[in-house]
Order: sequence, then structure tokens, then C-alpha cells
Amino acid sequence: MKPGYFSEHDSAEVVAARASEDADARAREIYRVLVKHLHAAVRELEPTQEEWLRAIRFLTRTGHMCDDWRQEFILLSDVLGVSMLVDAVNNRKPSGASESTVLGPFHVAGAPELPMGADICRDKKGTPMLVKGRILDTAGNPIDGARIDVWQANDEGFYDVQQKGVQPDFNLRGVFRTASDGAYRFKGVKPKFYPIPADGPVGQMLEALGRHPYRPAHLHYIIEAAGFQSLTTHIFDPDDPYIHSDAVFGVKESLMAEFRWTEDPEEIAAEEMRAPFFLVVRDFVLAAAS
Ligand code: BEZ
Ligand code: FE
Repeated sequence: MKPGYFSEHDSAEVVAARASEDADARAREIYRVLVKHLHAAVRELEPTQEEWLRAIRFLTRTGHMCDDWRQEFILLSDVLGVSMLVDAVNNRKPSGASESTVLGPFHVAGAPELPMGADICRDKKGTPMLVKGRILDTAGNPIDGARIDVWQANDEGFYDVQQKGVQPDFNLRGVFRTASDGAYRFKGVKPKFYPIPADGPVGQMLEALGRHPYRPAHLHYIIEAAGFQSLTTHIFDPDDPYIHSDAVFGVKESLMAEFRWTEDPEEIAAEEMRAPFFLVVRDFVLAAAS
């Protein structure tokens, strides 16, 4: 039976039926589901023409804000929790494997590969931190040859790419490769909470909703090893003031790490540090490739 003309009550079915049966099946499915939920939202909200135009203007500003470096649509997806939901449905890990979280916009490909134990802080600013642990499989065996890409904001909450000319290039970034014991270690500085870029339409939206733009202090990791699913994740400071209200919903209970203040001279010497430091010990467990 042919669908009827457009009406308020069967609008979604009429629009969905317009897709050709010859169109790609996944494209038709995406179209049908998006139309169904968009039409349901309009029916529930009953926006005025002025409100609808404001929504169009908001999306237009979001597009205009984008360039090679700034991706305001991804930021919008982040603050709406959509990035984390896409991450969740694509990263259902087997029991025991470490959980993933958002990548974020501040990853830089091509960070230098450094010797194990190296200091990723190139400007010597901030409170020293030592991070160490092992990369394991779900049976607890160490993974040889895992590639660990780490990056973090500095003690003032800025990434190097946000402060070109102030921080050295590749400050607080590094790539490490495990040996047969699966162990890794690097030095950095205690990270600080920071606001996501809030000078555009996404920032205006957060403001209008009475939401703050802050992410709690964290370290980023991408861990890759042959035969395993790659893991994009963070570890978080559980004592951070924003730990319960991350602007992008990236916090998970399993990603909390202890940042232990260490001033015992013997421990400082044993860890080859020069001054009191925060010690973070964190293993990661990779799921086997499917
Ligand atoms: C980040 O952690 O680098 C980040 C994640 C999502 C949005 C903005 C920043
Ligand atoms: Fe970050």
C-alpha cells in the first residue's frame, strides 16, 4: 500500500518511505531511525518557528566554528554524551579488560618515541609525577611490544597545542614501547582540571544550561599491541573537584588512579626522582583482537 500524503501524525513513516528500496540498506536504516526520533522530538517539543530558526542558527554557528584544528561538532557530541555512547557501544570489553573513554581533540600523531622511564615534561614546570605499571592480557600475562602513546595537560590545565610558543612542541607527550615484562614507566607532572574550548556555540549552550565546561584532571593513553584491540582511555584523579561532573561524561569508576604524594628520601632515590613527587601505579589489560 502506498503511504499517504504528509500529515502531523504519520509524518515519520511518510518521509522514511521516500527512500528507494535500491538504496544502501544501512543508509536507509540510519535515515529511518533519525527521521523517527527527530519527528518524535518535534511532536513532543512543538517548537515555535522562532525556536526552530534559533536551532538552525546554532547549528550554522557550530559549522562556522570548525576548521582543521577546531571541531565544534565533535565537541557538541562530547557534551551531549553522544561521543561516550558511541564509544560504549563500540567497546564492550570482555571481563577484566580495561575500559575505554573519549579520545578528545588534543591527541597529536607523531609524538616522539622515548626510552622507557623518560620525562615527557620538556619545560620542567609543575609538580613531578612518576607513572608506572604493566600492560597485560586478560589472563594476566605481560604484553611484549605494546605501544603506549601518552599525553596530558600541564599544571595549569593547558595542552602544548593550546600554548604554541609558550610550551615547547610535544611537551607532555611521548610514545613508549614495552619489553617482554610488559612494564612501562614515564615521568610527567601532576595534571590539573581544565575547561573544554568554551568560546564557541557549545560554550554558549553550556552557559545557557547552567553547566560548567570543566574536565577533571586526567592522563590520556592509546595502547596498541599486535593481536589485541587497541585501547583509548584515561586515568583520573579521584580527588579532583570536577570528578563527579566531567563536562564530557568521560569518567568511569574503573579509571580512577591513586596519585600518591611521596616524600620519603629512600623512595625518591629508589625511583630515580630528584624531589618529592606524585606516584601513580596503573596496569592496563588489553582484550584480544576479535
Ligand atoms: C580531552 O580530554 O582532551 C577532551 C575530551 C573531550 C573534549 C575536550 C577535551
Ligand atoms: Fe584531556
